[in-house]
Amino acid sequence: MTIKEHKQELLDQLYNTYKKSNECHVGYKERTNIVFGEGNPDAKLMLIGEAPGEEEDKQGLPFVGRSGILLNKALALAEINRSELYITNVVKCRPPNNRTPSETEIKTCTEMFLDKQIKIVRPKVIVTLGSIATRALLNKEVKITKIHGQIFNQENFIIIPIYHPSYVLRNRSVSQEWLDDIKRIREIYIKIINHKNEK
Ligand code: URA
Repeated sequence: MTIKEHKQELLDQLYNTYKKSNECHVGYKERTNIVFGEGNPDAKLMLIGEAPGEEEDKQGLPFVGRSGILLNKALALAEINRSELYITNVVKCRPPNNRTPSETEIKTCTEMFLDKQIKIVRPKVIVTLGSIATRALLNKEVKITKIHGQIFNQENFIIIPIYHPSYVLRNRSVSQEWLDDIKRIREIYIKIINHKNEK
């Protein structure tokens, strides 16, 4: 079994534990699916959003609605292939009326899923989309308008926060800045991968 297959098996095991009951552990009653995450289980680049929206809830897949379409366009412009990344959200079920998840909900979901997904995939670069994901990963209050594009070194990976695509949809004036951040992320990620292969 390859490393990639092994990681996929571990992710499937984690997902299946909850998929069977299809229970939302933070108690969101009106959601359809657990949106666990998708992509390359051995990805060096992991993207983390806030929580599924309506379309993601219907399809059970992350970033397939309007935000996802914009994100796909930006990734394509930056020459990042969505199939080479792993993409997920902090909260796995759609919050009632799309509201922002509470601190307790974020903590519960992170411990149950996200921390384990990160441990399995072991990405080198984590890109947090928006302030909720960034706060959850950095464990501190942040202003995304101030820190987007910056690199935060952690023990096993770096975190680079960027604007959430839904923010970009609402504030078109930040589109170029957002795209520049994504292009820079690609450069950083390519450097990390090449450096690892040289060793
Ligand atoms: N917004 C998110 O944060 N995640 C999704 O999957 C879709 C929209």
